[in-house]
Amino acid sequence: MENMNWSDLTFGYIKTDYNVRCYYRDGKWGELEVSSSEILNLHMAATCLHYGQEAFEGLKAFRGKDGKVRVFRMDENAKRMQASSRGLLMAELPVEKFEEAVRKAVRLNERFIPPYESGSSLYIRPLLIGTGAQVGVKPADEYLFLVFVTPVGPYFKEGFKPTPVCIMREYDRAAPHGTGNIKAGGNYGASLVAGNKAKEAGYSAVLYLDPREKKYLDECGPANFFGIKDNCYITPQSTSILPSITNMSLMQLAEDMGLTVERRSVPVEELATFEEAAECGTAAVIAPLSRIDDLDENKSYVYSTDGKPGPVCEKLYKKLRGIQYGDEPDTHGWVQVVL
Ligand code: PLP
Ligand code: COI
Repeated sequence: MENMNWSDLTFGYIKTDYNVRCYYRDGKWGELEVSSSEILNLHMAATCLHYGQEAFEGLKAFRGKDGKVRVFRMDENAKRMQASSRGLLMAELPVEKFEEAVRKAVRLNERFIPPYESGSSLYIRPLLIGTGAQVGVKPADEYLFLVFVTPVGPYFKEGFKPTPVCIMREYDRAAPHGTGNIKAGGNYGASLVAGNKAKEAGYSAVLYLDPREKKYLDECGPANFFGIKDNCYITPQSTSILPSITNMSLMQLAEDMGLTVERRSVPVEELATFEEAAECGTAAVIAPLSRIDDLDENKSYVYSTDGKPGPVCEKLYKKLRGIQYGDEPDTHGWVQVVL
């Protein structure tokens, strides 16, 4: 792509050349189709519009120093989309079909994959929606699976620099046994008011507490949470958070580095004991936290005052990015070379 300032990309939508689509009709999935249109032709009574039969995924492709293009752990995204389908009674797409669509979408849009030096990547957005018409609250009999891609920079404009987040008990993104553990669009709709309020007050995100008791940490609006103390990686276990593939990978890398890993309920007060804290996810990568303000309790937990991430976050970030861009050996078999 000429005239593209790859290093200045934000996390926004840029039109690319093609998207890949697959339709579920008469009880089966069809062949993959390639489209150059950004528009969907949708029935006005489609269940995705009325009853929230909608789930999405997010993953990335990275251009390496060697020129190769690697996609990170897409089998996990495919399996998570199946879990989302089960949670919303949507047709399940086979893992192989998901992977084939991702490879196709990346290859067809090769000219939009940012160069290695830019530090940017190609964001891949798979989407699954109920397209069949219903008026009663019932699952659709037809579905559309679609993959589009768009080149992106950092999710938070600060990138790998620490930012503050806040706790606000009057909002939840999900119910205790609701849809928080799947990637349903409704969770994000539910997070918009609190997210906006947080941004207006200068925070990068909201750190949600468990919706039942408000005693334990859940996750941030667009990413999981982890804390570091005494050579230990600690991350919440909860029925209302999304099982993050980045977090799962970081737990493995932390273990490889000799840290102990604890996935358990994390009481809010424990925030006072962490040496480092961060958000993690595909879009966020690792976004270190400078401070967590508990706005209801009028308390602040401070992790960084010099604008720098802590040493463990730094090490994990380098390792993860190294594997994704092909600079480090992929000892766990996480990357698939697609170009
Ligand atoms: N939690 C939420 C609510 C998310 O939207 C995301 C983003 O996908 C994550 C966590 C991180 O998940 P992953 O690491 O699989 O991208
Ligand atoms: C991702 O990290 O891929 C996400 O989906 C987070 C956000 C953009 C919704």
